[in-house]
Amino acid sequence: MKCIVANWKMNLTIRESLALARGTLRVLQGSDVVPNVILCPSFTSLSEVRKALSRTRMHVGAQDVGPDKSGAYTGAVSVTQLEDAGCAYVLLGHSERRTLFHEDDTLIADKIKAVLASSLTPIVCVGETREVHQAGKTEAYVAEQLTRLFTGVTVPKRRQIMVAYEPVWAVGTGECPEPADVVRVHRVLKQTLRSVTGALDEHLQILYGGSVTASNAYSFLREPEIDGVLVGGASLKIHDIHAIIAAAQDVLVAQG
Ligand code: PGA
Repeated sequence: MKCIVANWKMNLTIRESLALARGTLRVLQGSDVVPNVILCPSFTSLSEVRKALSRTRMHVGAQDVGPDKSGAYTGAVSVTQLEDAGCAYVLLGHSERRTLFHEDDTLIADKIKAVLASSLTPIVCVGETREVHQAGKTEAYVAEQLTRLFTGVTVPKRRQIMVAYEPVWAVGTGECPEPADVVRVHRVLKQTLRSVTGALDEHLQILYGGSVTASNAYSFLREPEIDGVLVGGASLKIHDIHAIIAAAQDVLVAQG
């Protein structure tokens, strides 16, 4: 299976989100080859988008969640509230959450625990800065990041975990690593996740994110080690997201 996660970030009104969700859906209509497409709108649009996708094969995800169950946490949203809104997935530790909102690995690990105790599937983002990349230390850096996030976290049997490898220098910049470099990092991430959590390969998916476009999506998706892509900017443009989903369909057809 290949997975496409559309991270709409802080964009679109409810009406615009619905239009984009319905437009995105059109590419799957009448097709037997269906990648796992997850749309992540803003909190305000979640339930409406979920309603628009009911009885379809697309899912809804949130862009973040608070670590606490309920209570006096002004501005926060809990996993229970996301479940109530019909979410099946949630992004955690996106680089924008880390840099703009000062989230650290301890907080993100608490969020992972909260999500694993719910029905939601976590999509945990990791990735190196430009300095680490230039120093050639990417693999060690992301392995340590993932180890910090999952050490001491009990992963229930058969629980799906998604990790998105998103180099910070590639998010929103138009710059990307080569697919072969991504494959190497994905191998390290899967190996790390397997040994830290004890989870089986069939429950782990590693996605790539960072300047994925209609023209480069296929080159990532065709790699067996790349289980999908996390798309920001291009997911807001209907032609681009159609082309990215179509690229996943082409790969699935080619793989039989
Ligand atoms: P981008 O964003 O595709 O615009 O680089 C990716 C992301 O933030 O997940």
